[in-house]
Amino acid sequence: MSHYIVQPVQGAAGSIRVPGDKSVSHRALMLGGIADGVTEVRGFLESEDCLATMKAMSALGVVIERPGVQEVRVRGVGMKGLRAATHALDMGNSGTAMRLMTGLLSGQAFDSELIGDSSLMQRPMERAATPLRQMGARIATLNGRPPVKISGGSNLNGIRYELPVASAQVKSAVLLAGLYAKGTTTVIEPAVTRDHTERMLLGFGCAIDVANGEIRLEPPARLNACSLEVPGDFSSSAFFLVAGSISRGSGLTIKGVGINPTRTGMLDILALMGADLRVVNHRTAGAEPVADIEVRPAKLKGIHVPEHLVPLAIDEFPALFVAAACADGETVVTGAEELRVKESDRIAVMAEGLRAMGVDCEVLPDGMRIQGRPEGHAFSGGKIDSHGDHRIAMSFTVASLRSAGPIEIADVANVATSFPGFLQTARSAGLDLVERP
Ligand code: S3P
Repeated sequence: MSHYIVQPVQGAAGSIRVPGDKSVSHRALMLGGIADGVTEVRGFLESEDCLATMKAMSALGVVIERPGVQEVRVRGVGMKGLRAATHALDMGNSGTAMRLMTGLLSGQAFDSELIGDSSLMQRPMERAATPLRQMGARIATLNGRPPVKISGGSNLNGIRYELPVASAQVKSAVLLAGLYAKGTTTVIEPAVTRDHTERMLLGFGCAIDVANGEIRLEPPARLNACSLEVPGDFSSSAFFLVAGSISRGSGLTIKGVGINPTRTGMLDILALMGADLRVVNHRTAGAEPVADIEVRPAKLKGIHVPEHLVPLAIDEFPALFVAAACADGETVVTGAEELRVKESDRIAVMAEGLRAMGVDCEVLPDGMRIQGRPEGHAFSGGKIDSHGDHRIAMSFTVASLRSAGPIEIADVANVATSFPGFLQTARSAGLDLVERP
């Protein structure tokens, strides 16, 4: 089991880039695979999660080439061109891959089975299976968890579905099945979630209409291949936004980051905490807005995180908890029960790690209450178990900017699921870490 050994440092500074967006990369492979024509993708995230989707699409008969670094060429087989895989499709650690593929495979003529690693095999799948069954899909789970077995040949009908939880994965699973359904598919969100599927479907020529929290999709006759540029992953920039805020360095610039407003709740939360952030050099990568983000050290203060920002920052809470632990006063997060069903129970695992570093925190059913230790009250350092969760491992790496002693983080191999090259990028920003077997 690999570990990070992270030595205390005070300054993080410089200019970095983060790898491509994970959510966008998964979707590019899936939609490219069922489009007519060749989809060229640049800035693709070559992480284990996205490679699991790539393998699955290949196993379903899509030829996918990798002409260069972070480049992918998807030779689409058309909406009816996928073929049965000869084996169960292993989605690795990726909930996004499994739930979106469940939607896509519900509309196929053949049977499929989806499996994953020990974390994914424990994660809830009924949230996606339930609306898909209402559309006419035949899906079996094992007590609500994988393996997910999808029987082919079902005739799907469009539904009007009100999501019980704010989940872009479930929304996307329903929309992907909607491509194969008779009639209109409508999804109603309880709160806005990331809209990469909607933006990308439009780019592939699918009629999709978004108004008043309702997303309406008309099943297209075909999808048209296109060229896609994947922005840097905002969720990967999150660790450096915190690093730049809590360090004593001259500031960090993170270049080429996706700033889709359905993803950037963390910028609003950090701003409320008093962070010094500047979003500059606005541009677009296809359907997605992109910018550079400059962050300078600031005295953070504790806040009650507004609940409407939670779904817009859902993957950033491990990093935000570290920021809160460095803030003056108490930070309270509520309305974030979804954190309990991510790659780990991110409320329990972050609380365990923060306590190991000397932070006083209280676990709430749907969040956490954290007593900040502002500058001059360093963390103790210590041993952290990431429980195999990539974002927990990366968050505690950043805590070394406020630590008196070294931090040893166990079970870090899964950093490769979302952020290949994290170690080198973190070092280039001034952090002092090594990986040991
Ligand atoms: C994702 C949606 C979110 C997020 C995940 C990626 C996506 O999950 O946490 O990392 O790409 O659609 P939920 O839909 O479970 O909120």
